[in-house]
Amino acid sequence: MGRKSAKSKEKKMKRKEENAKFEASIKKVAEANAIEDPMAPFPVFKKYDRNGISLTLETRLVDSLEKDTVEWIFDLTKRNMQSLYEQSDWGWSDRDKREEMTDSRAWYLLARTPEGKPVAFSHFRFDMEEGDEVLYCYEIQLEKEVRRKGLGKFMMQILELMAHRYGMIKVILTAFKHNPDAQKFFREKLKYEVDEISPEASMYEEDFTYVILSKPIPQKGASKTEPAKPVTSPLKPSNGASTEGLIA
Ligand SMILES: CC(C)(COP(=O)(O)OP(=O)(O)OC[C@H]1O[C@@H](n2cnc3c(N)ncnc32)[C@H](O)[C@@H]1OP(=O)(O)O)[C@@H](O)C(=O)NCCC(=O)NCCS
Repeated sequence: MGRKSAKSKEKKMKRKEENAKFEASIKKVAEANAIEDPMAPFPVFKKYDRNGISLTLETRLVDSLEKDTVEWIFDLTKRNMQSLYEQSDWGWSDRDKREEMTDSRAWYLLARTPEGKPVAFSHFRFDMEEGDEVLYCYEIQLEKEVRRKGLGKFMMQILELMAHRYGMIKVILTAFKHNPDAQKFFREKLKYEVDEISPEASMYEEDFTYVILSKPIPQKGASKTEPAKPVTSPLKPSNGASTEGLIA
């Protein structure tokens, strides 16, 4: 009897702890989403001047974007991705993609030329994934003329910095296995690894056409119950700027 009640007390405590953790995670996501300019703490990352391109970067919620920009985002995604989607079980749907892209929770990291022409974007969200607070990178898309100039890496670094700043435990994304450029970019260059929630990491026999990749983000003040996995590559800006003071 005594033992049983001690056990149930333990269980109750555990449940309480889990609920508190969940509530705290939801609060962090809500706070991150309420920030007006998530890039404000990183002014040196608002410019990319390297390898023959000169660009400015900003973060905006989709509802604050001009119609033309939203149309360009859709058009670039379609040009870059339609055939890859069609080779997967997902197929391509203009309507579904537009719906996803214009969901009011969608944040955009945009890179523009000095004339204001957009040339690259990332759609990301501060969100919950399987009970954890994460920065989910839905999309990173560059126009052909600005690829292989370090810009993609630079933009992913900005996502990682924001994840760190706003207390998200990882940056997570989905990539097609049949997109070798993305596989090389994320896995070989940026050291993203297969996430524990990726179907590839489980026991299923099915051959999925996509893989869920992630990178753990070291937490401020190490307040997490589980220690964050060490990051293999430190967050150094690839535009040569100093991050001193950026990482708390
Ligand atoms: C994938 C993508 C985001 C990469 O951005 P990028 O600015 O071109 O990449 P970077 O210049 O930062 O490259 C960093 C490194 O990643 C690797 N890499 C990037 N693109 C690669 C490619 N096409 N082939 C092989 N390696 C590649 C290289 O190691 C590269 O370093 P290096 O140029 O010094 O060899 C960009 O090419 C793109 O928008 N592609 C089309 C859309 C897409 O596939 N998006 C990903 C969807 S999940």
